[in-house]
Amino acid sequence: MKIAVVGTGYVGLVSGTCFAETGNHVICVDNNEEKVDKLTNGRLTIYEPGLELLFHRNTKEGRLTFTTNLEEAVRESEIIFLALPTPPGEDGSADLSYVLGVAEELGHIIRDYKVIVDKSTVPVGTAEKVTAAIAKHAKVDFDVVSNPEFLREGVAVDDFMKPDRVVIGTSSERAKKVMHRLYEPFVRQGNPVYFMDERSAEMTKYAANSYLATRITFMNEIANLCEKLGANVDMVRIGMGSDSRIGKRFLFPGVGYGGSCFPKDVQALAKTARENDYDFRLLHSVMDVNDQQKFVLANKIKRHYGENLSGKTVAIWGLAFKPNTDDIREAPAIYIIEELLKAGAKVRAYDPEATENMQKIFGDQVDFVDHRYDALKDADCLAIITEWSIFRTPDFEYMGELMKEKVIFDGRNLYHLEDMKASGFFYNSIGRNEVPNKQVQTQF
Ligand code: UDX
Repeated sequence: MKIAVVGTGYVGLVSGTCFAETGNHVICVDNNEEKVDKLTNGRLTIYEPGLELLFHRNTKEGRLTFTTNLEEAVRESEIIFLALPTPPGEDGSADLSYVLGVAEELGHIIRDYKVIVDKSTVPVGTAEKVTAAIAKHAKVDFDVVSNPEFLREGVAVDDFMKPDRVVIGTSSERAKKVMHRLYEPFVRQGNPVYFMDERSAEMTKYAANSYLATRITFMNEIANLCEKLGANVDMVRIGMGSDSRIGKRFLFPGVGYGGSCFPKDVQALAKTARENDYDFRLLHSVMDVNDQQKFVLANKIKRHYGENLSGKTVAIWGLAFKPNTDDIREAPAIYIIEELLKAGAKVRAYDPEATENMQKIFGDQVDFVDHRYDALKDADCLAIITEWSIFRTPDFEYMGELMKEKVIFDGRNLYHLEDMKASGFFYNSIGRNEVPNKQVQTQF
């Protein structure tokens, strides 16, 4: 099939590449010439494990091409995906100007039947708005379909190639057939393609992300309470998750959820509810609790050393909002570092991929280093913010030699409490009892 993907951001690039991988011809369109040049010259514009291989294979074989010319891409294609940004406006609602702008252009361009697919996360009712925008100028038949993505950064290629499910919102039988043909190779293992109306498909995306954000937030609160009660959240998590109604995944407490999706989608759903005279109180609590959770690690450090951290050096492992990405959008690390700097601490940070992005925010206020152990030299403590695999089995003895004091604040519960007892570190994690170190005295 011939496909155009409008917007070569994260979702557009992953979707375009994966569609090409199953033999389709994909033209990706972007109005950013620099980006298109880079991609045309074989250089990827995002970091995503596994994408590079597919990208090179499909560009080399001519199935994946890039252009700034919307008209050329659209004319040749049967299906047109809109993977455009929908940034939150000041009031938290999604800004649809890019999506609707392109929709109007499509109305002018199309000369025969097209299936136009909303891939961006868009508020309920957007498919109707897109239809109206295209219809203003279109002289031929077309269908607008809502097909939300459920890609996790870091494993997006796998999520795309082997989705748990594909959700397609359309009331047109003709569009249904086209979409079924397109997705059939991705669900051969037996996972379902669910067809539903456009509004339900749009709502599914918000409901799924808001539920997951709520689930994490619930666990963060359970963890905070475990600390007060002397329970171990790791045990509680396993005990709870073994109930098949709950399930084991996505129950890990931490430093709060971040990223480009959860914060934006929870906010947008709460806003949509309010606009429709419904006060979604649970979501407001989720946002409040998550805002607080981002400060939990900095607060622990301040509780340990006192409010004034001047003269203290805090080493940081992990800046990205999660492992296997260089993305720092809404990353808890931003809030933690700001808080530490405000308290007068010197911050030395390491991340395998996200350093460059974080440098754009903090410049030389933070000392960024190229190796994880370099962050530890003469540090008073280590704060772990992102659970990169490289941090999971460090050489504690060597760390102890490098650091001024053997103190770790772990925002991701990477280590076993027994191992930490043996290592001689003072160890404070999330929702588990502290491991005291006799040499290090807590102030409280
Ligand atoms: C998410 C959704 O999972 C995906 O389906 C959607 O389409 C886009 O948003 P992503 O933002 O890439 O994907 O990351 P995800 O792995 O879901 O993690 C989101 C946040 O939750 C991260 O900050 C992560 O650290 C946090 N998290 C996740 C936890 O704190 N605990 C968990 O158990 C899982």
